Amino acid sequence: MEFITYETEGFVGILTINRPKALNALNSQVLGEIEEALDAVDLENTRALILTGAGDKSFVAGADIAEMSTLTKAEGEAFGKKGNDVFRKLETFPIPTIAAVNGFALGGGCEISMSCDIRLCAENAVFGQPEVGLGITPGFGGTQRLARLVGAGKAKEMIYTAFNIKADEAYRIGLVNAVYPQADLLDAAKKMAAKIAKNAPIAVRASKKAINDGLDVDMDQAIVVEEKAFGSCFESEDQRAGMEAFLNKTKVDGFKN
Ligand code: CAA
Repeated sequence: MEFITYETEGFVGILTINRPKALNALNSQVLGEIEEALDAVDLENTRALILTGAGDKSFVAGADIAEMSTLTKAEGEAFGKKGNDVFRKLETFPIPTIAAVNGFALGGGCEISMSCDIRLCAENAVFGQPEVGLGITPGFGGTQRLARLVGAGKAKEMIYTAFNIKADEAYRIGLVNAVYPQADLLDAAKKMAAKIAKNAPIAVRASKKAINDGLDVDMDQAIVVEEKAFGSCFESEDQRAGMEAFLNKTKVDGFKN
């Protein structure tokens, strides 16, 4: 792959979008490579995934404007579908995902961060959906996920005005979970990923799926989603070991699966 690097540290995978000359903008090739990299993650041995951008200036500066500039309506729709399919794969990825937003997260960059479960950002991060200033709408989920994350009023303000917001404002409105000095961001993401990786993998994955699936339905159906997730954990080795350890006043020495 030309624009993606993928490394692992213990149970944690780190996927880096590496196209710094274009501030990690997403063209069709980058989107395809993100999908390929996700498909290649060894889910048996990986318990959390960090997504970040190469360099210290930009996380992802959006979809590639040069590529989009000459698209027809049909091609534009297909490009949007490509991005949406890849981002939905990321959003429903079986293990938790953390976006480590190390700079510009504009348009498709803000959108890919919102397809992750958790967003941590550097003090220099800038978020925004500048698409209407380019004559298009957000196209990789921005109109949908931003409204769900920060509420329709704030999402509409950001999208209609095309104004960018800085890290402190992104934190204030709940778009990011925490802000760190640039130099500490990746370590903070790794620490959080390691904390997740310490817990029972089946239970963590079932929690993620229950939260995601529950958000798509009404509360009567949502609690049934949880009941199924809850029930699915029983009889697992980790459930037995976790509860036995509590009752014996000890700690589990590494969850298994
Ligand atoms: N697409 C293609 N190339 C991009 C890009 C993008 N989204 N963002 C930056 N680049 C390229 C620039 O063209 C430039 O290339 P050259 O050196 O070959 O000229 C290089 O990256 C560096 O960028 P700048 O010189 O512009 O850097 P800067 O520091 O002056 O500005 C910036 C940084 C404010 C992020 C500015 O690059 C910018 O505004 N980028 C576009 C942001 C944007 O509008 N994103 C939304 C795209 S639309 C979208 O994402 C639709 C969707 O929802 C799917």
